[in-house]
Order: sequence, then structure tokens, then C-alpha cells
Amino acid sequence: MERIKLHDKCFRVFIPYEKIEESIKAVARQLNDDYKEVENPLFLSVLNGSFMFAADLMKFLNFGCEISFIKLSSYSGVESTGEIKQIIGLNQPLKGRSVIIIEDIVDTGATIVELHKILMNAGVKDIKICTLLLKPDAYKKDLKINYAALQIPNDFIVGYGLDYNELGRQYKDIYVLDNN
Ligand code: IMP
Ligand code: MG
Repeated sequence: MERIKLHDKCFRVFIPYEKIEESIKAVARQLNDDYKEVENPLFLSVLNGSFMFAADLMKFLNFGCEISFIKLSSYSGVESTGEIKQIIGLNQPLKGRSVIIIEDIVDTGATIVELHKILMNAGVKDIKICTLLLKPDAYKKDLKINYAALQIPNDFIVGYGLDYNELGRQYKDIYVLDNN
């Protein structure tokens, strides 16, 4: 579908699935190389937005690892509220582990900074950040984004896990707000 309507807004295709998959494979190759000697790393997928990315990424990994999920909130409508709450907690031992955070998108960075703090407090040994999308013009935090499959301008996007007020997560392509 070239164009979709979600609630009151129209969106057009921005990144087709073929390009998304290609960029995920490139990230998986880097991870396969970087983690081949690491003891049982834990991928932590940030719900809801990263479920599709996490599922696709895992299929291309060839080292022993675990995956778990955490749910935080920061977004309402099309703008970040800047306030983060932990909703679903972590329930496996984290002390001394290597953790890779899986995000759908890093925008202001408020979410990953908060999650980073939570993981540091839990005694995690090493934390890396792996995101499908990065908005470099919006990101002003100091934390290093270790793996970013795609970089995009400061536009609002949906699809491939990302939503506009909970709609649009199921589409395999990524769409951008269409103002025409
Ligand atoms: P941050 O805390 O400002 O970095 O925002 C991160 C979260 O906001 C992401 O995990 C997404 O769930 C959501 N988000 C940021 N930008 C967009 C967007 O363009 N479309 C949909 N959700 C977004
Ligand atoms: Mg998210």
C-alpha cells in the first residue's frame, strides 16, 4: 500500500521493507562479529514499538543469547512527553550480564537514558544500544548508539512496529506523515 490513513492523518511509504531487511542484516552481521565470544548476552526489546524489529533481527543472529521484553512509556500522539515510566519490570537476573537494548527508534533519547539507568542500578556489566531507526537531529544525549540500522530526518513515521496513537504497527513498510 502506497498510502495509509490512521486516525486523522495520511502517511506515504518512506522506507520499503526490502531496505529495512537489508539494513537489519547488516546490523546482524556486526552483532555476530562483536558477540561471538560474549557469554550469553541478553537482548532487551522495548515494547511495543520494537517487537517486529526484534523478531526479524533475532532470525539473523548465530550466537547463543536470550531475549526478554520491557515496556516503558514516553509518547502521546506525535510528540515525546519527556516523562518515562517503567510499566512492565524486568524479572530475570541482570547482575554481571551483557545487555543489548533493542529499540524501534531513538528520538530525543529520553527512553534509552532512563532504561540505561535502570540497568546500571540492576548491576548490568555492559550495555549496548541497538536501534532500528535513529533521528540524529533530535538526539542530544551523550549515550553512544552502538548499532543503528537506519538514520532518518526529524519526521514522524509509522509502520514496522511504530504507531500513531496505537494504529499502524502491523505494516511491513515504514510510512511518513504526508502533509499534502
Ligand atoms: P525518545 O524517548 O524521545 O527517544 O522516544 C523514543 C520512543 O518514542 C520510541 O521508542 C518510539 O516508541 C517513540 N517514537 C519516537 N519517534 C517516533 C516516530 O516518529 N513515530 C512513532 N513513534 C516514535
Ligand atoms: Mg518505543
